[in-house]
Amino acid sequence: MLYLFVQLNCIINICEAVKINRLHVPDVTKHGTEVTLDCDFTLDDSESDLVVKWYFNKSLVYQWIPSTKKRPQSLGVLKDRVNLEYQASVDANSIHRALRIIRPGPDLSGNYTCSVSTLESEDAKTKGMVVLVLKTLVRHLS
Ligand SMILES: *[C@@H]1O[C@H](CO)[C@@H](O)[C@H](O)[C@H]1NC(C)=O
Ligand SMILES: *[C@@H]1O[C@H](CO)[C@@H](O)[C@H](O)[C@H]1NC(C)=O
Repeated sequence: MLYLFVQLNCIINICEAVKINRLHVPDVTKHGTEVTLDCDFTLDDSESDLVVKWYFNKSLVYQWIPSTKKRPQSLGVLKDRVNLEYQASVDANSIHRALRIIRPGPDLSGNYTCSVSTLESEDAKTKGMVVLVLKTLVRHLS
């Protein structure tokens, strides 16, 4: 079934080796409440040296290299603000694909890019997120 799906996907997309199917970044999120930015991707069995990265406003803030068997790293403005144990999937290549921000502040409003690359190919998608403090949120919703 999965094989068939992959084959069909190859025919339609001329076999893109790494592909981000869906980038889940909420448009608006609440200050201080844990938020998950997810990057659902698929890759071909033949691909090697997978690297998953997240950028905030073009700066690298998260990196995970599954083959090293090491924990993901959070960097820059997101250092010590990400739950590095968070598991977004049971798939070994996707376990730590998501960015789980523990206490987002208004300083984290901006553009988030998920980049997935292998030796053979890469894909990236970007979406903006606004972190609102409650006062602003009430105004925004009313
Ligand atoms: C964020 O994305 C918007 C829309 O694509 C763009 O206009 C803006 O310059 C970007 N900001 C940064 C800091 O990259
Ligand atoms: C990120 O980009 C947004 C707009 O795209 C901007 O409002 C915000 O100030 C930027 N934040 C940082 C820390 O660069």
